[in-house]
Amino acid sequence: MGFQLSHEVERLKRSVLRELLGLAVDPDIISLAGGLPANENMPVEQFRSCLNAVLDRDGAKAMQYSPQYAPLRNWIAEYMTKMGVACEGEQIFITNGAQQGLAILSRLLLDPGDPAVVEEITFTGIHQITLGRGAALRAIPTDHSTGADMQALEAAFRQDPRPRFAVLIPDFHNPLGVSLSKEKRARAAALAEEYGVAVIEDDPYSALRFSGDRSPPIKAFDNAGNVFYVGSFSKMLAPSIRLGWIVAAQEMLPAITVIRESFDLESSTLTQRAVMEFFDRDLFEPYIANLNALNLERSSALMGALEEHLSDVATWTRPEGGLFSWVSLHNGVDTWDMFEAALDQKVAYIPGAAFAVNGGHRNTMRLNFSNATPAMIREAIARLTSVIQATE
Ligand SMILES: Cc1ncc(COP(=O)(O)O)c(C=O)c1O
Repeated sequence: MGFQLSHEVERLKRSVLRELLGLAVDPDIISLAGGLPANENMPVEQFRSCLNAVLDRDGAKAMQYSPQYAPLRNWIAEYMTKMGVACEGEQIFITNGAQQGLAILSRLLLDPGDPAVVEEITFTGIHQITLGRGAALRAIPTDHSTGADMQALEAAFRQDPRPRFAVLIPDFHNPLGVSLSKEKRARAAALAEEYGVAVIEDDPYSALRFSGDRSPPIKAFDNAGNVFYVGSFSKMLAPSIRLGWIVAAQEMLPAITVIRESFDLESSTLTQRAVMEFFDRDLFEPYIANLNALNLERSSALMGALEEHLSDVATWTRPEGGLFSWVSLHNGVDTWDMFEAALDQKVAYIPGAAFAVNGGHRNTMRLNFSNATPAMIREAIARLTSVIQATE
């Protein structure tokens, strides 16, 4: 064709996750691969009613270009304040989901070639806003019970030149399922201040807690305005809502707004209003309670099945919420090599290496428990066990 593509396109790898999800379309496959909330819990009727009410009430205003919807910004500010992040509506910037929040912050803070800190095993969308934008990565390990390693974070911050930011997933890490301890959250905020480095807190999952005690966000410990919090309605309401938010120091909002407008003018005012209507009708609390009860049941089914079948050859994380557990095999089996055999046996997962920024970790896999019934989960683990045994 004679024209050249940008360096960014060359660096971006199509998400392995999305490719694998495409493979697992056979209806006989039990997929523990995706990160999908349960279909049967989607608030379809409630949301339809909210949309209709907004259209009846606001008419054309709900279909027009519009500033970010102030009642929703204020709701989010109150929600964050209850979590320990005292803030005003003016500090909330509504995005089209957490991924857009991450992309905006990457553009705000990083030029190609700059150093950035990521967890060595992390969500592929974070690979895209760092590696994909030409960042020089400094990867830090993540402990499977207390989260990202703060000594390694400090070492990465101390290195010259200073990194432009670090991205951490504090709650129910994707893919590890682990949460950052409260002490480490405080430490991350303190390090951000001490070294003058921004921390991006990527938190789509904290509302999905089904057991244990919650810790305040990293942002709750941020006195210097160095922590950018990224939230999302994708997992706490529904992915297709495509709304999320950034909490930042108010003086950052003009720059954030300009960057966002460079690739997307605004979020749907219709959707923002319908989500606010959902909250005004007090539908959120019962909805999230049901969702978490369902996820607890499913996570328990997964934990029980892993215990029954794989305790001799594997260890795994025991999440207190979110959507995933991370399984490490200790019998030399490579989960990439095993993947086709698993599909033949009608079971799918994500090979853990897909999340590793420096390669390796080929003995690991991410299992999702939210989008299959307990019976399906038990069957999936039985199938997976036979594939693992055949591969050994
Ligand atoms: C850790 C993490 N961050 C961000 C996202 C993107 O979420 P959203 O649908 O809000 O863009 C996901 C989605 O799975 C995720 O797991």
